[in-house]
Amino acid sequence: MSTAMSGRVTGTRTADTVLEVRDLTVEIRTSRGTFRAVDGVSFDVPRGAALGLVGESGSGKSLTLRAVLGLLPPQARVVAGTARLDGEDILTMSTARLARLRGPEVAMVFQEPMSALNPVMRVGDQIAEGPLVHLGLGRAASRRHALDLMRRVGIPDPVRRYSAYPHEFSGGMRQRVMIALALSCGPSLLLCDEPTTALDVTIQDQILTLLTGMCAQNGTSLVFVTHDLAVVAQTCRELAVLYAGRVVESGTVAEVFARPNHPYTLGLLRCAPDIDDVRDTLVPIPGTPPDPFSLPAGCSFGPRCGFARDDCRTTDVQLLPVPRGPGSRTGHSSPTGHSSPTGHRAACLHADECAAAAHAEPAVAGV
Ligand SMILES: Nc1ncnc2c1ncn2[C@@H]1O[C@H](COP(=O)(O)OP(=O)(O)OP(=O)(O)O)[C@@H](O)[C@H]1O
Ligand code: SF4
Ligand SMILES: [Mg+2]
Repeated sequence: MSTAMSGRVTGTRTADTVLEVRDLTVEIRTSRGTFRAVDGVSFDVPRGAALGLVGESGSGKSLTLRAVLGLLPPQARVVAGTARLDGEDILTMSTARLARLRGPEVAMVFQEPMSALNPVMRVGDQIAEGPLVHLGLGRAASRRHALDLMRRVGIPDPVRRYSAYPHEFSGGMRQRVMIALALSCGPSLLLCDEPTTALDVTIQDQILTLLTGMCAQNGTSLVFVTHDLAVVAQTCRELAVLYAGRVVESGTVAEVFARPNHPYTLGLLRCAPDIDDVRDTLVPIPGTPPDPFSLPAGCSFGPRCGFARDDCRTTDVQLLPVPRGPGSRTGHSSPTGHSSPTGHRAACLHADECAAAAHAEPAVAGV
């Protein structure tokens, strides 16, 4: 079953969904005032598969993950929404319950492992700590478990390296340590915040293969935050595109890549170099993301959008189901929309034109 996502969806627990986020809204307090960095975000993470969260810098990807894990910075707070992990709302649970849940049920791989690893603790002990505390393994068994994980993530000579400190590892090896640590309690859900951005391309590929392979082996579900649509194509079944704190398009990777219904998604595809080799030139998206303190009226993407019309400046555009078939969409005039059997949704008044343009000049081969 395809993942259904929308701005306003009633929550239900299903066997196919491990995490169901609905209307998540996060506000940030700054010296300039308060703004919504995450604004009514909804998505489902499919059980045993990966969801990609993509968008430019500042679109709210990290804060979305941090809100789900209860690790927001002090300036940020969740003001609305739910995040149900196997039916239980993480956002309202007690701190004690949340602490028990982090590790065995949900874990995170951070972009920069040095900020997440303890610099004065031996890496082996850091990996063994979760199993010792959460799984009730004894010291010897936790150590064996950590060594096994170090071996499985491809750290050479794990017995010797168990006693090393994070600064003695290369960037790629540190990321392997971070992955071993995140997987040490066998979480059902792994949140990955740009885990490969800081690494060179060869290492990036190895880490992605490792992550997806280990998750497939253990039946772990993934949320993958990335700027890179090639990474999404390689790792994810589902996709949610964020712009200025809102989901502007979502659906399976196959259907969104084949028929993008939001000009921002189309723009991301046209400026992604690695997905396929069908274009001679990359087309950058003009302009920059909006200042959250002075969002444009109507559609936030309007000032950068080649499809924009007058109605885009006066309409509060909703994320609504996309009808099937190239060019079949007629716009989002109904505030309730209609149900889409594919789960593909987009927030654009002129999505049919966008889909037609994508069809005429594909950004990805095979479209
Ligand atoms: N601690 C903070 N204090 C003030 N503003 C913040 C803080 N953390 C995030 N923000 C702001 O919230 C918005 C969303 O930030 P977030 O880190 O989620 O973006 P992102 O999509 O992860 O970007 P990137 O791709 O650069 O990591 C941005 O405007 C960012 O500047
Ligand atoms: S609603 Fe209008 S401005 Fe916004 S993405 Fe669609 S066409 Fe562009
Ligand atoms: Mg981020």
